[in-house]
Amino acid sequence: MKKTFLLIAAAACFGFTAQVAMAEINADKIYSKKCKMCHKFDKKKVGPAFKDMHKDPAVLKAMIQNGRKMMPKFKRKLNEEQINAMVAFIQSKQPAAANPCAMNPCSK
Ligand code: HEC
Repeated sequence: MKKTFLLIAAAACFGFTAQVAMAEINADKIYSKKCKMCHKFDKKKVGPAFKDMHKDPAVLKAMIQNGRKMMPKFKRKLNEEQINAMVAFIQSKQPAAANPCAMNPCSK
């Protein structure tokens, strides 16, 4: 019973990591084209540094979709997959992202 659970958890973690790695390919491009002018990874620019942003993927996603003040909304400029990729990309620049399963207990 316990073993089965561990196997499932390990598979879920692996899946999540693989997804981040894949998403990063085009997220990197989206970042350069649409985010870089306002966001750096580690320092505040026009907007907050990726590393200082919310840790909750749902909050990040809502912000990218709906914007706030100077932050433009991307709901119509990026599709669902691209927005998810940007959330994963931001998380990959956050300190805890070295181990995605520690931060987000494999709920993805
Ligand atoms: C015109 C400048 C600008 C651009 C372009 C921009 N942002 Fe922002 N972003 C901001 C500002 C300013 C804030 C802070 C908003 C506030 O005052 O609450 C912000 C906030 C955010 C937040 C919320 C962070 C938090 O923890 O509250 C996320 C997530 C985010 N941006 C992601 C992105 C992504 C991804 C892109 C590219 C697709 C992007 N932004 C492009 C200016 C920008």
